[in-house]
Amino acid sequence: MHLSFVILTTALCGKCHECPHFTDEGDPCTMAAYAHLKKVLLALQTHRKPLPKGGSNQDPLPQKRLLVESLFKDLDADESGHLSGSELAQHGTQEQELDEDLLGCSLGDLLRFDDYNSDGSLTLREFYTAFQVLQLSLAPEERVRVTTVTVGLSTVLTCAVRGDLRPPIVWKRNGLTLNFLDLEDINDFGEDDSLYITKVTTVHMGNYTCHALGHEELFQTHVLQVNVPPVIRVYPESQAQEPGVAASLRCHAEGIPMPRISWLKNGMNVSTQMSKQLSLLANGSELRIGSVRYEDTGAYTCIAKNDVGVDEDISSLFIEDSARKTLANILWREEGLSVGNMFYVFADDGIVVVHPGDCEIQRHLKPTEKIFMSYEDICPQGEESSQSCQWASAVNVRNRYIYVAQPTLSRVLVVDVQAQKVLQSIGVDPLPAKLSYDKSHDQVWVLSWGDVHKSQPSLQVITEASTGQGQHLIHTPFAGVDDFFIPPTNLIINHIRFGFIFNKSAPAIHKVDLETLMLLKSISLQSHGCLPQAMAHTHLGGYFFIQCQQSHATPAAPQLLVDSVTDSVVGPNGDIAGIPHTSPDGRFVVSAAANSPQLHVQEISRWGEIQPLYGLRVPQGISGLAFQRSFTEGNQYSVYATLETEPSLLFLELSTGKTGLLTDLKAPPEGPAWPWAEPLRVLRDSGLFGQYLLTPAQESLFLINGRQNALQCEVSGIKRGTTVVWVGEV
Ligand SMILES: *[C@@H]1O[C@H](CO)[C@@H](O)[C@H](O)[C@H]1NC(C)=O
Ligand SMILES: *[C@@H]1O[C@H](CO)[C@@H](O)[C@H](O)[C@H]1NC(C)=O
Ligand SMILES: *[C@@H]1O[C@H](CO)[C@@H](O)[C@H](O)[C@H]1NC(C)=O
Ligand SMILES: *[C@@H]1O[C@H](CO)[C@@H](O)[C@H](O)[C@H]1NC(C)=O
Repeated sequence: MHLSFVILTTALCGKCHECPHFTDEGDPCTMAAYAHLKKVLLALQTHRKPLPKGGSNQDPLPQKRLLVESLFKDLDADESGHLSGSELAQHGTQEQELDEDLLGCSLGDLLRFDDYNSDGSLTLREFYTAFQVLQLSLAPEERVRVTTVTVGLSTVLTCAVRGDLRPPIVWKRNGLTLNFLDLEDINDFGEDDSLYITKVTTVHMGNYTCHALGHEELFQTHVLQVNVPPVIRVYPESQAQEPGVAASLRCHAEGIPMPRISWLKNGMNVSTQMSKQLSLLANGSELRIGSVRYEDTGAYTCIAKNDVGVDEDISSLFIEDSARKTLANILWREEGLSVGNMFYVFADDGIVVVHPGDCEIQRHLKPTEKIFMSYEDICPQGEESSQSCQWASAVNVRNRYIYVAQPTLSRVLVVDVQAQKVLQSIGVDPLPAKLSYDKSHDQVWVLSWGDVHKSQPSLQVITEASTGQGQHLIHTPFAGVDDFFIPPTNLIINHIRFGFIFNKSAPAIHKVDLETLMLLKSISLQSHGCLPQAMAHTHLGGYFFIQCQQSHATPAAPQLLVDSVTDSVVGPNGDIAGIPHTSPDGRFVVSAAANSPQLHVQEISRWGEIQPLYGLRVPQGISGLAFQRSFTEGNQYSVYATLETEPSLLFLELSTGKTGLLTDLKAPPEGPAWPWAEPLRVLRDSGLFGQYLLTPAQESLFLINGRQNALQCEVSGIKRGTTVVWVGEV
């Protein structure tokens, strides 16, 4: 280390062997005095040859460059482009006439200190360097550079700001400096100050700027686009229909750019066979056959393509007379009787399994029903003679089990979907109120409040949740936490490594490793005075949206944006307040609150830019909210929302902005609401290919048909069914 310092110093001092750092006691021209000399020279030059004022070039940097250049020309008496010792000495005598104290330095010292190549003269470039005028440049066509990378690959962004003796490059993302952050994925600043991003994912998309240290005004913007090959799902995988009925084959594709969908029937492109009978809807995401005939039997391949890849899958259709039973037919009948594609509603009177298509209660587990493994009642008789259940939150574990919290019994029930039975109960800390399923690690997170005042909250984790039994309960060490957030997975992002815990009355969120359950870092929200209330995430650009409350009761505080690449606060999300909800694909963010008539919709562009789409005034505050995939346009959504105090249901078609109210619903469940209740008027969708939504009323359930945008039916006789889980294909 010491050695390199000496070498560096010598190199900077050129042939001078009396560097200012090592001057003899006797040498009067110290570094400070030398700096003073240069300042005086520039001042004199300004005085002698003032630069034209009011020109277009008012930036201090080019101004200084012009000044230094004019000084050089004046000193270069023989116009050779080189300042020799004698030229400097000659000038030096003139300067001394100006009664300025040069503190023992003379112009000759320029040669001593700044003759980099030690050739005994100074070029304009050396002169510029001596006066710290850098000639940095950036070609106009390089100001914005778009880089497109496929997810999973690495990329290098090279800064096009050039110039001799360019100071180190500073890289920023969302206005935050990346250098020295010690990031895992942006971990190397190369020899030429390039930015290396290893294993690019969609969170990395967005703008990266670079500039030379101290020269922020000259910056380049790299727009990083991330392409993702298509990922598809078809529905159903197979079906059997009788002749004459309509059949629908569906295919959902995600990817960046948006994949194009086409269908093959037994290997032949169907787009050439379109007719009244055979049609493609919603950009090819649905193949519809009006009235099936025997010859429609076949393997239909959905193919989704974009610039970076292809994905395909088969949906089979069998046309069979009901009298004739083929294997496929049998298989399908079994599927028809299957236990999947149902809503599970946890109500006062036990657990109700609802088939949405025909609005039937398929099964009802009464409070007296026994837990399979312990033979206890699922809802034991309380002090009052009535035997009713109290539920908090519930989660679906791989369409196999439902874990549901019983707050007053300090336990979590495990419901076996296949057997439609309560399999076992797991004892947890008092008052379990919120559950969340971490799919990536097959763990159910349980937040217990301790008591109704949340005075002793604790976080527990049930591991190996999808095994149904033999799980372990782990007590996490986190103290003082009263809420948590685990980002959702989707078709493109199927592994989530980090979650967040927070205390709703402390201005910070804390990042935890979901696998090791270790606290990684804390992100302070103090400077924005934000007390975090709720969070949402989009993998596009890697933003977290945080609903904030301010300690002093001001009107709703704006949400904060946190960048998941740098784990830093980017700033407020405009003036948008409320609870953020992201669409399953991460493209839309809808913000609304129970106490506000505002509803905002934002879209994340394929460059990771958050753009406003709509700001609406809604008749009431919003309680529950759900996204329903569009049946008319591929990769679009409608939003359905329950209103806080009105029976009606709001709907908004995101692609057009069309809104409406579904009336004829009944009054929402009345209080007393349990303190741990989620929104009283929850609204559940039915997954990727679902078309039904469910919301509870005071003594019934309402099913909404999202394809027809209409009320499907009311299932009566179910009181306070405020905990609802959808179970898809089993
Ligand atoms: C099917 O035909 C359409 C229209 O000609 C074309 O755009 C599409 O790429 C074709 N699909 C396949 C898989 O060949
Ligand atoms: C779907 O089709 C509509 C109308 O034809 C078009 O405007 C839209 O861009 C398409 N969407 C996708 C995702 O291809
Ligand atoms: C949350 O933070 C507040 C303020 O710092 C503190 O009083 C409270 O005890 C914390 N909550 C929990 C559950 O520890
Ligand atoms: C990224 O840079 C481009 C080009 O300067 C600009 O148009 C765009 O608004 C920027 N996006 C963000 C998110 O700042």
